[in-house]
Amino acid sequence: MAEKPMRLDRFLTEMTGFTRTQAKEAAKKGRIAVDGVITRKTDGKILPGVQKVTVDGEEIVYLAAEYFMLNKPAGVVSATEDGRYPTVTSLILEKKRSDLFPVGRLDLDTEGLLLITNDGDLAHRLLSPRRHVDKVYELTYSGSLPADAKERFAEGIVLEDGTKTMPAVLEPLDFDGQGGAARLTIREGKFHQVKRMMEAVGCRVTYLKRVSMGSLVLDKNLKPGQYRQLTAEELEELRQI
Ligand code: URA
Repeated sequence: MAEKPMRLDRFLTEMTGFTRTQAKEAAKKGRIAVDGVITRKTDGKILPGVQKVTVDGEEIVYLAAEYFMLNKPAGVVSATEDGRYPTVTSLILEKKRSDLFPVGRLDLDTEGLLLITNDGDLAHRLLSPRRHVDKVYELTYSGSLPADAKERFAEGIVLEDGTKTMPAVLEPLDFDGQGGAARLTIREGKFHQVKRMMEAVGCRVTYLKRVSMGSLVLDKNLKPGQYRQLTAEELEELRQI
């Protein structure tokens, strides 16, 4: 896809993960060529998608945006960098761009749907508190739900810090006397929201998985840790938000 002119150093930082200094150094060493001509400066402009950029002779193909659906496994952080745990972006091995990030956060122990992209506009719209994008979670819990739990969730739950959530839809599934399973649809993204809502009715979440976010539904074929690109239809629908 043809794009507007952009600085070569920006192209290289976005598409290779080089810092600007590294890009400059690589150019000085003669490792970078534009349309077959070695360039020793990175502050000039190029036409991404039209001009061919190579590093050490290898073409760097331009892609303005990438969109991946990840089934986040437990034990991986929803961040781009972390000193202790692997990050969700490090799981995306086939990425072309180096500036991908997760749209929102799931807790370290939460599994399920996470959109990974570099599309800041879309991320902003999906996360905007004003747009109230539905997020559906499947969970198991220990404890026993009060008889009026569904109604309390539907009215909005007062959390331990006194804040009230927006109305949510609780669908209790199984219950075995010690705990059970449920589906919960919420429209916000407060910190640990699902766990805190369940705690407010005396239950502890023991497993949590996000299965959808707006129109985007987790692909059942993706095992935890697996990912795929969004289809054109999924992307189109998400953009309607
Ligand atoms: N609510 C939580 O408590 N944790 C998550 O990871 C997502 C929603």
